[in-house]
Amino acid sequence: MERAMSAHAVIFDLDGVLVTTDELHYCAWKQMADREGIFFDREVNHRLRGVSRMESLAIILEGASRGYSSVERERLADEKNAIYRAALERIGAGEILPGAVETLDGLDAMGVPYAVASSSRNAGLILERTGLRARMSVVVDGNDITRSKPDPQVFLIAAERLGVEPGVCVVVEDAESGVEAGLAAGMRVLGVGPPERVGRAHRVVGSLREIGVSELVEV
Ligand code: BG6
Ligand code: MG
Repeated sequence: MERAMSAHAVIFDLDGVLVTTDELHYCAWKQMADREGIFFDREVNHRLRGVSRMESLAIILEGASRGYSSVERERLADEKNAIYRAALERIGAGEILPGAVETLDGLDAMGVPYAVASSSRNAGLILERTGLRARMSVVVDGNDITRSKPDPQVFLIAAERLGVEPGVCVVVEDAESGVEAGLAAGMRVLGVGPPERVGRAHRVVGSLREIGVSELVEV
């Protein structure tokens, strides 16, 4: 594909960066884990950020007192996804995180292209429900990838679809795995969250509210 001459592009993670669905993931996994009698808390949950559904389940099952067959694993993952999708049916624009809309508005005003790159297979539904889908020219999600973060695949596909080189991209991430994926893609990375989680990023903020678009593209 011929690449456009763009000085900057921004690639956003979705859950925990643009929308609050990271909390819904936690609640759904918690319900599943409690039902199975498996210890699971917010500390363990941080390790699930950015990683695929089945890899997330594998991390939770590290705390289980017995082994689970692949059939059982499929059942637990389906169970969690059903709880999660029922919760997604009730979300709307109210789940968009502070600063997200202002950031997208600012990038539009500057003519900077942007994309969503998520490990979630539910990204399309979330973008529809929150009204963000129409704003996104490029969405790469869990259905498009074979390797989840910290592999850089999702971000490299996003850059390709935006028609820009990885080196001009700034990744915005709330996950340790996502920060690693952005770095591995050869991109600049803005971490959103506590330094102990996203401190390997080039710059760290608590929320998108704390950074203007002219600073964001220069991270
Ligand atoms: C990521 C979340 O966006 O999507 C992870 O940060 C989640 O926690 C992953 O496991 C997969 O999500 P889904 O919706 O495909 O189960
Ligand atoms: Mg995230």
